[in-house]
Amino acid sequence: MSIDYLALDEELDQEDYIICEYTVKSDLNIKTAGKRIAEEESTGTWTHPTTLSEDIFKNYGAKVTKAQGNRVRIGYPVIDFSGDIGGIPQILSIIAGNLFGLESLEGVRLVQLELPSEIVKQYPGPQFGITRLRNILDRPEKPLVGTIVKPKIGLPPKEFADYVYQAGRGGLTNSKDDETLVDQDFCPLEERVSEVSEKLDILEEEGYKMIHAHNISTTSHKILEAADLALENGARQLMIDVLTVGFSGLQALAEDPSVDVPIHVHRAMHGAITKNPHHGISMSVISKIVRMAGGDALHIGTYGTGKMHAEVDEELKCKETLLGDMHGLPKLMPVASGGLHPGLVPELIKMSGMEVQIQAGGGVSGHPDGVRSGAKALRQAVDAVSEGVDLKEYAEKHRELRKALEKWM
Ligand code: 3PG
Repeated sequence: MSIDYLALDEELDQEDYIICEYTVKSDLNIKTAGKRIAEEESTGTWTHPTTLSEDIFKNYGAKVTKAQGNRVRIGYPVIDFSGDIGGIPQILSIIAGNLFGLESLEGVRLVQLELPSEIVKQYPGPQFGITRLRNILDRPEKPLVGTIVKPKIGLPPKEFADYVYQAGRGGLTNSKDDETLVDQDFCPLEERVSEVSEKLDILEEEGYKMIHAHNISTTSHKILEAADLALENGARQLMIDVLTVGFSGLQALAEDPSVDVPIHVHRAMHGAITKNPHHGISMSVISKIVRMAGGDALHIGTYGTGKMHAEVDEELKCKETLLGDMHGLPKLMPVASGGLHPGLVPELIKMSGMEVQIQAGGGVSGHPDGVRSGAKALRQAVDAVSEGVDLKEYAEKHRELRKALEKWM
Protein backbone atom coordinates (compact mmCIF):
# COMPACT_ATOMS: atom_id res chain seq x y z
CA MET A 1 0.00 0.00 0.00
CA SER A 2 1.49 3.38 -0.93
CA ILE A 3 0.84 5.94 1.73
CA ASP A 4 3.25 8.83 1.78
CA TYR A 5 2.23 12.28 2.93
CA LEU A 6 5.28 13.76 1.19
CA ALA A 7 4.48 15.05 -2.27
CA LEU A 8 7.39 17.43 -2.62
CA ASP A 9 7.20 19.97 -5.43
CA GLU A 10 3.77 18.79 -6.51
CA GLU A 11 1.77 21.80 -7.73
CA LEU A 12 -1.60 21.73 -6.00
CA ASP A 13 -4.64 23.23 -7.65
CA GLN A 14 -5.48 26.13 -5.35
CA GLU A 15 -9.19 25.46 -5.79
CA ASP A 16 -8.87 21.90 -4.51
CA TYR A 17 -6.93 22.50 -1.29
CA ILE A 18 -6.66 24.71 1.73
CA ILE A 19 -2.94 25.41 1.73
CA CYS A 20 -1.06 26.30 4.90
CA GLU A 21 2.53 27.22 5.61
CA TYR A 22 4.04 26.46 8.98
CA THR A 23 7.43 27.20 10.46
CA VAL A 24 8.69 24.36 12.62
CA LYS A 25 11.19 24.10 15.47
CA SER A 26 12.11 20.46 16.06
CA ASP A 27 14.93 17.92 16.27
CA LEU A 28 13.19 16.03 13.47
CA ASN A 29 14.27 16.78 9.95
CA ILE A 30 11.85 19.14 8.24
CA LYS A 31 10.36 16.50 5.92
CA THR A 32 9.49 14.22 8.81
CA ALA A 33 8.12 17.14 10.78
CA GLY A 34 5.89 18.06 7.83
CA LYS A 35 4.70 14.47 7.52
CA ARG A 36 3.82 14.39 11.22
CA ILE A 37 1.58 17.43 10.80
CA ALA A 38 -0.06 16.19 7.60
CA GLU A 39 -0.82 12.74 8.98
CA GLU A 40 -2.04 14.00 12.37
CA GLU A 41 -4.37 16.52 10.75
CA SER A 42 -5.80 14.32 8.02
CA THR A 43 -5.92 10.53 7.73
CA GLY A 44 -3.11 9.34 10.02
CA THR A 45 -2.06 9.15 13.61
CA TRP A 46 1.09 8.08 15.55
CA THR A 47 0.93 4.59 14.01
CA HIS A 48 -0.56 3.17 10.86
CA PRO A 49 -4.29 2.55 11.43
CA THR A 50 -5.29 -0.81 9.94
CA THR A 51 -8.50 0.90 8.84
CA LEU A 52 -6.68 3.37 6.58
CA SER A 53 -7.09 2.25 2.98
CA GLU A 54 -5.21 3.58 -0.04
CA ASP A 55 -8.48 5.08 -1.28
CA ILE A 56 -9.14 6.97 1.93
CA PHE A 57 -5.59 8.29 1.90
CA LYS A 58 -5.81 9.31 -1.77
CA ASN A 59 -9.06 11.23 -1.29
CA TYR A 60 -8.64 12.79 2.14
CA GLY A 61 -4.93 12.70 3.01
CA ALA A 62 -3.02 16.01 3.35
CA LYS A 63 0.09 16.57 1.22
CA VAL A 64 3.38 18.13 2.18
CA THR A 65 4.42 19.94 -1.00
CA LYS A 66 7.39 21.84 0.39
CA ALA A 67 9.78 21.13 3.23
CA GLN A 68 12.72 23.47 3.23
CA GLY A 69 14.73 25.16 5.95
CA ASN A 70 12.29 25.44 8.84
CA ARG A 71 9.21 25.78 6.65
CA VAL A 72 6.61 23.33 5.39
CA ARG A 73 3.74 23.83 2.99
CA ILE A 74 0.79 21.52 3.41
CA GLY A 75 -2.34 21.13 1.30
CA TYR A 76 -5.55 19.81 2.86
CA PRO A 77 -8.15 18.55 0.33
CA VAL A 78 -11.30 20.72 0.29
CA ILE A 79 -13.44 17.64 0.85
CA ASP A 80 -11.96 17.47 4.37
CA PHE A 81 -13.90 20.70 5.04
CA SER A 82 -17.16 19.77 3.33
CA GLY A 83 -20.65 19.73 4.85
CA ASP A 84 -22.93 22.49 6.05
CA ILE A 85 -22.10 22.44 9.73
CA GLY A 86 -18.34 22.56 10.38
CA GLY A 87 -17.49 26.13 9.39
CA ILE A 88 -14.58 28.05 10.86
CA PRO A 89 -14.30 25.83 13.98
CA GLN A 90 -13.77 22.81 11.76
CA ILE A 91 -11.25 24.58 9.54
CA LEU A 92 -9.27 25.54 12.63
CA SER A 93 -9.50 22.09 14.19
CA ILE A 94 -7.71 20.78 11.11
CA ILE A 95 -5.20 23.45 10.13
CA ALA A 96 -4.50 24.62 13.67
CA GLY A 97 -5.51 21.68 15.81
CA ASN A 98 -3.60 18.84 17.48
CA LEU A 99 -0.42 19.76 15.62
CA PHE A 100 0.42 22.47 18.16
CA GLY A 101 0.61 19.90 20.93
CA LEU A 102 2.71 17.22 19.21
CA GLU A 103 5.54 16.26 21.57
CA SER A 104 7.98 15.80 18.69
CA LEU A 105 7.62 19.43 17.61
CA GLU A 106 9.07 21.95 20.00
CA GLY A 107 7.34 24.76 18.17
CA VAL A 108 5.00 25.13 15.18
CA ARG A 109 3.65 28.39 13.83
CA LEU A 110 0.90 28.73 11.25
CA VAL A 111 2.16 31.66 9.19
CA GLN A 112 0.14 31.55 6.00
CA LEU A 113 -3.32 30.45 4.98
CA GLU A 114 -4.55 30.20 1.38
CA LEU A 115 -8.22 29.47 0.90
CA PRO A 116 -10.00 28.34 -2.28
CA SER A 117 -12.81 30.59 -3.49
CA GLU A 118 -15.31 27.75 -3.01
CA ILE A 119 -14.69 27.96 0.74
CA VAL A 120 -14.42 31.76 1.06
CA LYS A 121 -17.68 32.19 -0.85
CA GLN A 122 -19.54 30.39 1.93
CA TYR A 123 -18.89 33.46 4.11
CA PRO A 124 -20.57 36.82 3.51
CA GLY A 125 -17.70 38.55 5.33
CA PRO A 126 -17.90 42.17 6.52
CA GLN A 127 -21.44 43.56 6.22
CA PHE A 128 -20.24 47.16 6.42
CA GLY A 129 -16.52 47.04 5.78
CA ILE A 130 -14.51 50.16 5.06
CA THR A 131 -16.87 51.67 2.52
CA ARG A 132 -20.05 51.65 4.58
CA LEU A 133 -18.17 52.53 7.77
CA ARG A 134 -16.74 55.61 6.09
CA ASN A 135 -20.15 56.48 4.62
CA ILE A 136 -21.79 56.44 8.05
CA LEU A 137 -19.17 58.87 9.29
CA ASP A 138 -19.11 60.93 6.13
CA ARG A 139 -15.35 60.64 6.07
CA PRO A 140 -14.39 59.24 2.69
CA GLU A 141 -10.59 59.39 2.73
CA LYS A 142 -8.78 60.54 5.85
CA PRO A 143 -8.05 58.22 8.77
CA LEU A 144 -10.83 57.68 11.29
CA VAL A 145 -9.84 59.14 14.64
CA GLY A 146 -10.98 57.50 17.84
CA THR A 147 -10.61 57.02 21.55
CA ILE A 148 -11.12 54.27 24.08
CA VAL A 149 -12.94 55.46 27.18
CA LYS A 150 -10.53 55.43 30.13
CA PRO A 151 -10.21 54.29 32.79
CA LYS A 152 -10.94 50.89 31.27
CA ILE A 153 -13.40 50.16 34.05
CA GLY A 154 -14.98 52.15 36.83
CA LEU A 155 -16.82 55.09 35.26
CA PRO A 156 -20.58 55.06 35.84
CA PRO A 157 -22.78 55.38 32.72
CA LYS A 158 -23.36 59.15 32.86
CA GLU A 159 -19.66 59.99 33.27
CA PHE A 160 -18.82 57.42 30.64
CA ALA A 161 -21.22 59.05 28.20
CA ASP A 162 -19.86 62.48 29.03
CA TYR A 163 -16.37 61.25 28.06
CA VAL A 164 -17.79 60.22 24.68
CA TYR A 165 -19.49 63.60 24.30
CA GLN A 166 -16.29 65.51 25.08
CA ALA A 167 -14.36 63.34 22.61
CA GLY A 168 -16.96 64.04 19.93
CA ARG A 169 -16.83 67.79 20.56
CA GLY A 170 -13.07 67.51 20.24
CA GLY A 171 -13.58 66.22 16.70
CA LEU A 172 -13.19 62.45 17.02
CA THR A 173 -15.14 60.21 14.66
CA ASN A 174 -15.07 57.08 16.84
CA SER A 175 -14.97 55.92 20.41
CA LYS A 176 -15.31 52.56 22.05
CA ASP A 177 -15.68 50.58 25.24
CA ASP A 178 -12.50 48.97 26.41
CA GLU A 179 -12.01 45.23 26.02
CA THR A 180 -12.62 44.51 29.70
CA LEU A 181 -15.89 46.41 30.03
CA VAL A 182 -19.10 44.56 29.21
CA ASP A 183 -22.00 44.70 31.66
CA GLN A 184 -20.46 45.17 35.10
CA ASP A 185 -22.62 46.44 37.97
CA PHE A 186 -20.92 49.84 37.97
CA CYS A 187 -21.65 50.41 34.27
CA PRO A 188 -24.39 48.08 32.98
CA LEU A 189 -24.62 47.70 29.22
CA GLU A 190 -28.24 48.85 28.88
CA GLU A 191 -27.77 52.07 30.80
CA ARG A 192 -24.38 52.79 29.21
CA VAL A 193 -25.70 52.35 25.68
CA SER A 194 -28.71 54.50 26.36
CA GLU A 195 -26.63 57.33 27.92
CA VAL A 196 -24.06 57.20 25.12
CA SER A 197 -26.75 57.13 22.42
CA GLU A 198 -28.33 60.25 23.89
CA LYS A 199 -24.97 62.03 23.72
CA LEU A 200 -24.37 60.86 20.16
CA ASP A 201 -27.77 62.29 19.19
CA ILE A 202 -26.83 65.62 20.76
CA LEU A 203 -23.49 65.56 18.96
CA GLU A 204 -25.25 64.92 15.68
CA GLU A 205 -27.60 67.86 16.25
CA GLU A 206 -24.53 69.97 16.94
CA GLY A 207 -22.96 68.87 13.67
CA TYR A 208 -20.53 66.18 14.91
CA LYS A 209 -20.76 62.73 13.40
CA MET A 210 -19.48 60.01 15.68
CA ILE A 211 -20.12 56.38 16.49
CA HIS A 212 -19.29 54.40 19.61
CA ALA A 213 -18.57 50.64 19.70
CA HIS A 214 -20.25 48.86 22.62
CA ASN A 215 -18.53 45.74 23.87
CA ILE A 216 -20.98 42.83 24.02
CA SER A 217 -18.41 40.06 24.47
CA THR A 218 -20.27 37.21 26.10
CA THR A 219 -21.06 33.51 25.84
CA SER A 220 -22.34 32.31 22.46
CA HIS A 221 -25.86 31.58 23.70
CA LYS A 222 -26.22 35.17 24.91
CA ILE A 223 -24.52 37.15 22.18
CA LEU A 224 -27.57 37.90 20.03
CA GLU A 225 -29.55 38.80 23.13
CA ALA A 226 -26.79 41.23 24.15
CA ALA A 227 -26.76 42.68 20.63
CA ASP A 228 -30.54 43.17 20.75
CA LEU A 229 -30.29 44.93 24.09
CA ALA A 230 -27.62 47.28 22.77
CA LEU A 231 -29.45 47.94 19.50
CA GLU A 232 -32.78 48.58 21.24
CA ASN A 233 -31.03 51.25 23.25
CA GLY A 234 -29.60 52.96 20.21
CA ALA A 235 -26.16 51.37 19.69
CA ARG A 236 -24.55 52.54 16.45
CA GLN A 237 -21.70 50.02 16.56
CA LEU A 238 -21.04 46.76 18.40
CA MET A 239 -17.72 45.37 19.52
CA ILE A 240 -16.47 41.94 20.46
CA ASP A 241 -13.22 40.51 21.78
CA VAL A 242 -13.01 37.93 19.05
CA LEU A 243 -10.50 35.57 20.61
CA THR A 244 -12.15 35.28 24.00
CA VAL A 245 -15.64 35.05 22.47
CA GLY A 246 -14.63 32.90 19.50
CA PHE A 247 -14.89 33.49 15.75
CA SER A 248 -18.34 31.87 15.76
CA GLY A 249 -19.69 34.60 18.02
CA LEU A 250 -18.52 37.19 15.52
CA GLN A 251 -20.00 35.27 12.63
CA ALA A 252 -23.33 34.86 14.44
CA LEU A 253 -23.51 38.62 14.89
CA ALA A 254 -22.37 39.53 11.40
CA GLU A 255 -24.81 37.18 9.73
CA ASP A 256 -27.84 38.06 11.84
CA PRO A 257 -30.15 40.33 9.80
CA SER A 258 -31.14 42.31 12.91
CA VAL A 259 -27.54 43.47 13.43
CA ASP A 260 -27.52 46.47 11.13
CA VAL A 261 -24.49 48.26 12.57
CA PRO A 262 -20.75 47.73 11.99
CA ILE A 263 -18.82 45.35 14.23
CA HIS A 264 -15.56 46.49 15.79
CA VAL A 265 -13.24 43.59 16.57
CA HIS A 266 -10.76 43.70 19.45
CA ARG A 267 -8.06 41.03 19.64
CA ALA A 268 -7.51 40.78 23.43
CA MET A 269 -5.55 37.57 24.24
CA HIS A 270 -3.86 37.51 20.84
CA GLY A 271 -0.41 37.74 22.41
CA ALA A 272 -0.85 34.22 23.81
CA ILE A 273 -1.30 32.98 20.26
CA THR A 274 0.78 35.37 18.14
CA LYS A 275 3.74 36.63 20.18
CA ASN A 276 6.09 33.62 20.26
CA PRO A 277 7.91 33.69 16.89
CA HIS A 278 8.33 29.89 16.96
CA HIS A 279 4.85 28.84 17.95
CA GLY A 280 1.20 29.73 17.53
CA ILE A 281 -0.69 31.47 14.76
CA SER A 282 0.34 34.65 13.02
CA MET A 283 -1.91 37.70 13.31
CA SER A 284 -2.26 37.83 9.52
CA VAL A 285 -3.88 34.37 9.57
CA ILE A 286 -6.20 35.52 12.37
CA SER A 287 -6.99 38.64 10.31
CA LYS A 288 -8.05 36.48 7.38
CA ILE A 289 -10.42 34.49 9.56
CA VAL A 290 -11.89 37.67 11.05
CA ARG A 291 -12.54 38.92 7.51
CA MET A 292 -14.39 35.70 6.68
CA ALA A 293 -16.33 35.80 9.93
CA GLY A 294 -17.56 39.32 9.22
CA GLY A 295 -15.64 41.88 11.31
CA ASP A 296 -15.82 45.44 9.96
CA ALA A 297 -12.79 46.85 11.79
CA LEU A 298 -9.94 44.92 13.42
CA HIS A 299 -7.08 45.84 15.75
CA ILE A 300 -3.87 44.88 13.99
CA GLY A 301 -1.26 46.91 15.88
CA THR A 302 0.53 50.24 15.69
CA TYR A 303 3.57 49.33 13.55
CA GLY A 304 5.97 49.56 16.45
CA THR A 305 4.88 53.04 17.56
CA GLY A 306 2.74 52.16 20.60
CA LYS A 307 2.82 50.16 23.83
CA MET A 308 2.21 46.65 22.54
CA HIS A 309 4.80 44.23 21.21
CA ALA A 310 4.95 44.56 17.43
CA GLU A 311 6.37 42.66 14.47
CA VAL A 312 6.15 45.42 11.90
CA ASP A 313 6.39 43.14 8.84
CA GLU A 314 3.59 41.01 10.23
CA GLU A 315 1.44 44.09 10.85
CA LEU A 316 1.99 45.19 7.25
CA LYS A 317 0.89 41.72 6.18
CA CYS A 318 -2.25 42.07 8.32
CA LYS A 319 -3.00 45.39 6.64
CA GLU A 320 -2.66 43.68 3.25
CA THR A 321 -4.92 40.85 4.43
CA LEU A 322 -7.68 43.29 5.39
CA LEU A 323 -7.32 45.53 2.34
CA GLY A 324 -6.21 43.18 -0.43
CA ASP A 325 -8.40 41.04 -2.67
CA MET A 326 -9.94 38.01 -0.94
CA HIS A 327 -12.21 36.39 -3.49
CA GLY A 328 -14.46 39.45 -3.51
CA LEU A 329 -15.04 39.84 0.26
CA PRO A 330 -15.46 43.47 1.36
CA LYS A 331 -12.40 45.12 2.95
CA LEU A 332 -12.33 45.89 6.64
CA MET A 333 -10.83 48.80 8.49
CA PRO A 334 -7.41 48.24 10.10
CA VAL A 335 -7.41 49.69 13.62
CA ALA A 336 -4.21 50.99 15.23
CA SER A 337 -4.56 51.09 18.99
CA GLY A 338 -2.40 50.66 22.10
CA GLY A 339 -0.16 53.34 23.58
CA LEU A 340 -0.78 55.96 20.88
CA HIS A 341 -0.71 59.74 21.33
CA PRO A 342 -0.70 62.66 18.89
CA GLY A 343 3.10 62.77 18.64
CA LEU A 344 3.17 59.26 17.14
CA VAL A 345 0.68 59.98 14.38
CA PRO A 346 3.19 60.96 11.63
CA GLU A 347 5.26 57.79 12.06
CA LEU A 348 2.10 55.69 12.26
CA ILE A 349 0.47 57.08 9.11
CA LYS A 350 3.73 56.62 7.21
CA MET A 351 3.19 52.89 7.72
CA SER A 352 -0.59 52.62 7.71
CA GLY A 353 -1.51 55.09 4.98
CA MET A 354 -4.92 56.75 5.16
CA GLU A 355 -6.87 53.51 5.44
CA VAL A 356 -6.72 53.29 9.22
CA GLN A 357 -8.70 53.98 12.38
CA ILE A 358 -6.30 55.61 14.83
CA GLN A 359 -7.33 55.23 18.47
CA ALA A 360 -5.88 56.58 21.68
CA GLY A 361 -7.16 56.03 25.20
CA GLY A 362 -4.40 57.36 27.46
CA GLY A 363 -3.28 59.59 24.59
CA VAL A 364 -6.62 61.44 24.78
CA SER A 365 -7.66 61.16 28.45
CA GLY A 366 -4.13 61.92 29.66
CA HIS A 367 -4.01 65.36 28.01
CA PRO A 368 -3.21 68.02 30.62
CA ASP A 369 -6.45 69.88 29.80
CA GLY A 370 -8.76 66.86 29.76
CA VAL A 371 -10.62 64.73 27.27
CA ARG A 372 -11.97 67.41 24.92
CA SER A 373 -8.51 68.96 24.52
CA GLY A 374 -6.97 65.49 24.17
CA ALA A 375 -9.43 64.68 21.41
CA LYS A 376 -8.70 67.97 19.68
CA ALA A 377 -4.97 67.31 19.87
CA LEU A 378 -5.34 63.85 18.30
CA ARG A 379 -7.59 65.18 15.56
CA GLN A 380 -5.17 68.05 14.91
CA ALA A 381 -2.28 65.60 14.56
CA VAL A 382 -4.25 63.54 12.04
CA ASP A 383 -5.33 66.70 10.16
CA ALA A 384 -1.72 67.94 10.03
CA VAL A 385 -0.39 64.68 8.61
CA SER A 386 -3.32 64.29 6.19
CA GLU A 387 -2.63 67.79 4.89
CA GLY A 388 1.12 67.13 4.68
CA VAL A 389 2.04 69.71 7.32
CA ASP A 390 4.84 69.13 9.80
CA LEU A 391 3.44 68.33 13.26
CA LYS A 392 5.56 70.86 15.16
CA GLU A 393 4.71 73.58 12.69
CA TYR A 394 0.99 72.75 12.99
CA ALA A 395 1.30 72.77 16.78
CA GLU A 396 2.48 76.38 16.75
CA LYS A 397 -1.05 77.42 15.83
CA HIS A 398 -2.90 74.64 17.67
CA ARG A 399 -2.65 74.90 21.44
CA GLU A 400 -4.05 71.44 22.26
CA LEU A 401 -1.59 69.70 20.00
CA ARG A 402 1.26 71.80 21.34
CA LYS A 403 0.45 70.81 24.92
CA ALA A 404 0.18 67.13 23.97
CA LEU A 405 3.58 67.21 22.29
CA GLU A 406 5.08 68.97 25.30
CA LYS A 407 3.78 66.22 27.55
CA TRP A 408 4.59 63.14 25.51
CA MET A 409 7.44 63.97 23.13
C1 3PG B 1 -7.12 49.22 23.31
O1 3PG B 1 -8.29 48.88 23.42
O2 3PG B 1 -6.49 49.11 22.25
C2 3PG B 1 -6.37 49.75 24.51
O3 3PG B 1 -7.19 49.82 25.62
C3 3PG B 1 -5.68 51.06 24.18
O4 3PG B 1 -5.52 51.92 25.27
P1 3PG B 1 -4.40 53.04 25.25
O5 3PG B 1 -4.58 53.92 24.05
O6 3PG B 1 -4.59 53.81 26.53
O7 3PG B 1 -3.09 52.35 25.24
